[in-house]
Amino acid sequence: MSLPVRRFDAVIVGGGGAGLRAALQLSKAGLNTVVLSKVFPTRSHTVAAQGGISASLGNVQEDRWDWHMYDTVKGSDWLGDQDAIEFMTRRAPEAVIELEHMGMPFDRVPSGKIYQRPFGGHTADHGKRAVERACAVADRTGHAMLHTLYQQNVRAETQFFVEWMALDLIRDDDGDVVGVTAMEMETGDVYILHAKAVLFATGGAGRIYASSTNAYMNTGDGLGMAARAGIPLEDMEFWQFHPTGVAGAGVLITEGVRGEGGILLNSEGERFMERYAPTVKDLASRDVVSRAMAMEIHEGRGVGKHKDHVLLKLDHLGAEKILEKLPGIREIAIQFAGVDPIKDPIPVVPTTHYMMGGIPTNYHGQVVIPQGDELEAPVRGFYAAGECACASVHGANRLGTNSLLDLVVFGKSAGDHMIEFIKDYGEFKDLPADAEAQTVARLNRLETQTQGEEVSDLRQELQRCVQSHAGVFRTDAILRDGVEKIAEIGARVAKSQIHDKSKVWNTARLEALELDNLIEVAQATLVSAEARKESRGAHASDDHPDRDDENWMKHTLYYAADRRLTYKPVHTKPLSVEYIKPAKRVY
Ligand code: FUM
Repeated sequence: MSLPVRRFDAVIVGGGGAGLRAALQLSKAGLNTVVLSKVFPTRSHTVAAQGGISASLGNVQEDRWDWHMYDTVKGSDWLGDQDAIEFMTRRAPEAVIELEHMGMPFDRVPSGKIYQRPFGGHTADHGKRAVERACAVADRTGHAMLHTLYQQNVRAETQFFVEWMALDLIRDDDGDVVGVTAMEMETGDVYILHAKAVLFATGGAGRIYASSTNAYMNTGDGLGMAARAGIPLEDMEFWQFHPTGVAGAGVLITEGVRGEGGILLNSEGERFMERYAPTVKDLASRDVVSRAMAMEIHEGRGVGKHKDHVLLKLDHLGAEKILEKLPGIREIAIQFAGVDPIKDPIPVVPTTHYMMGGIPTNYHGQVVIPQGDELEAPVRGFYAAGECACASVHGANRLGTNSLLDLVVFGKSAGDHMIEFIKDYGEFKDLPADAEAQTVARLNRLETQTQGEEVSDLRQELQRCVQSHAGVFRTDAILRDGVEKIAEIGARVAKSQIHDKSKVWNTARLEALELDNLIEVAQATLVSAEARKESRGAHASDDHPDRDDENWMKHTLYYAADRRLTYKPVHTKPLSVEYIKPAKRVY
């Protein structure tokens, strides 16, 4: 081995909500745990989550965990696994109370209990009326959660490798995961981190799109590493467009604005959601609202010089409520749209926000793949949680605020499972002879390549391709074209280079390494989307406008090595309650 080796019981890749929640379990159990993060942990993308974390606490109106489960299954357009959904929604109240006890500064209702607001698709009694289920810290809930979890980890003596990037997953000859290779960004030094168990909590990959609410660092690193190591990626055709990104800037305006009473208007001043979702109107689930906005724009009722966005009006809420409950939104609107929402509406447009698919896991966070006769055998030593994982609780469309819930519920359950796994592990397994080969080859390519195109040009071309071929509305022809184009871009990425090698800062090298991950995610997205001949949740095809449960109520698995797809059944059996049967999804 030419690379230096460091050893840990557990390596957590990613310092956002899921990684920190898992690390907390492991460190508190006394295990030698390290968290690697490309940025300082409290700058991870969880910090950008605004509107809340869902739990049926019933602090404002009656609520029940099985109503939350029903909404999540319906929101997923019946692609979510009902065992995992029951697991998550049942545990939501205790997960939130646990955060409160850790010191998370939730807003309060007059009785002193945690404040809750309505959100899209959150209903009481199986869709009868909207319900307040999103537990909020003003419009900075993710920020508060991340700081709380970081402080708890400091107390538990978790080790942090800050500004480190994991490069490749190491699997031994049995297929078990025994570590990762990783680069210290400041020095460019590369190490092998040898581990008994590895958890990926690397977040999303929204940067495959040209316009996204995601941070620039969300380049799908976990998915790229998993795909290169032979792990399939699940349900990658399902990308959520958040209805309210600031037009032209992509920055998120929380759904909490509509939860507090904000409304969407078209160029005629019409509250158009009344036509698309008569019961809950602006609080329908995100795929429904985004498609309605796209229809309004398409039919000429968009606003602005190019009629390419709609308006989010909230001045009627009054200055006091906006300043108390939505202060961050006001700042964002002033900075990025040049409007003060106390007086004027915010120009908004559907913007890529969340990846429903990811690395396939069960609800213990174990990565599970088809092996022999088994459809879902665990990969020993390998776990994933948070947006990079597909448990699958969000199915074809995630409900707002279920993401923060997913992070803490599955971060904790993965941590618990890892503790048991590591306790029974015994001595470290040997590293395979080729542990560093893939990483060394990738780094050498960047040093020696002289015929390829510049990394940044190719990244932009990739983003334009995904943006125009895997958007809100899709057709067979657009997707077919996209699959061809992205394959051709992929071939060029394999030869990409940093042109001026005399000026290779580590950041340029890192961007090149990130591009290797972006291309895996982009290919998985287009190939999976092209194959699915129906409309379900966020995957809306003009050529196949209906949901087709008979042929397509199944999960996609994409294998990078040969761009092959296989499918596996949805888990329709919950853990303890009755199966929620598929029905037409109306709001
Ligand atoms: O709209 C929002 O505040 C976003 C929340 C989420 O994606 O869960």
